[in-house]
Amino acid sequence: MEISTEDDGKSSPTNFAYKGAHQAFKDRWKQTDDSLCRHSMSFHLYHTVRNEFFASYLYLVEKIPVVKLFPVTCEYIKGEKQFYYRAQQFYEDVTPSEEGMMGDFVNISDVDLEGSRQFLKRFVGPGKAGTHCALDCGCGIGRVSKGVLLPVFEKMEMADMMEHFLLHAHEEYLGDDADRIETYYCYNLQELTPPQNKYDVIWMQWVACHLTDKDLMEFLVRCKRSLRPNGVIIIKDNMARQGCKLDAIDSSISRHLDIMRHIIAKAGLEVLAVEKQEGFPEVIMPVWMIAMK
Ligand SMILES: C[S@@+](CC[C@H](N)C(=O)[O-])C[C@H]1O[C@@H](n2cnc3c(N)ncnc32)[C@H](O)[C@@H]1O
Repeated sequence: MEISTEDDGKSSPTNFAYKGAHQAFKDRWKQTDDSLCRHSMSFHLYHTVRNEFFASYLYLVEKIPVVKLFPVTCEYIKGEKQFYYRAQQFYEDVTPSEEGMMGDFVNISDVDLEGSRQFLKRFVGPGKAGTHCALDCGCGIGRVSKGVLLPVFEKMEMADMMEHFLLHAHEEYLGDDADRIETYYCYNLQELTPPQNKYDVIWMQWVACHLTDKDLMEFLVRCKRSLRPNGVIIIKDNMARQGCKLDAIDSSISRHLDIMRHIIAKAGLEVLAVEKQEGFPEVIMPVWMIAMK
């Protein structure tokens, strides 16, 4: 995924036109019968976007034209939601390297890893999470596993949808530490159910943005069940300065921290700490770490 920069958020005339049309449809729903609603394009749009992006949707309806989000999220290609199909297409062409994982921002990798190590320290140790096993979700080639998790945990598991990243992690990138990876899950997170009661820490970096609100919430529910006592889930991701922002190139959605908090609460998790990653250039979207249990 590229770390996307934000646009200026101004509404264009087209945006206003769409807002008007959308409002008109909304008003008509109140007066028309169910069958007309079902055949209305706006009904499908409303229904599908609302179901998949319920937290983001509330914001989008108010502030940003939903039409921008709809064409890239809710249609199906070869049986896959376009939102997921596009991400797969994107990552197929990404080289299994640190550059591939960081897009144009490989130079901030060290700062990122140091920030993560410091944040993780707050939740691991006596009376806190254990150091037996961690899961790295959306691990890519294992940049975070290698730089943050393997130095702390006895063993690990890794999950990513792209086989060529996992193979590179195992055969090259992790070196001898690959012996401590118990399982590689080549799965879409939206379809993965991690084993129950297994992990002290579940790390999700730059991958929550690749799940719809609904799939993220449901995945968090499954992750909660797979935590050991005192275990924590940590999400580290781009957070939009306002509302949410779709990157149609890698098919990711960056949400405002409040939207993320809403999804976390819906998943029945409690936020333990929230911290902004310092030391990143101003031009990139802010990156936040959220620990939850
Ligand atoms: C920007 S990379 C980040 C990799 C790693 N977390 C890091 O920080 O270096 C995003 C990773 O998420 C994976 N990914 C994207 N969507 C996914 C999904 N739905 N299920 C599982 N993995 C996914 C990609 O294959 C890619 O390896």
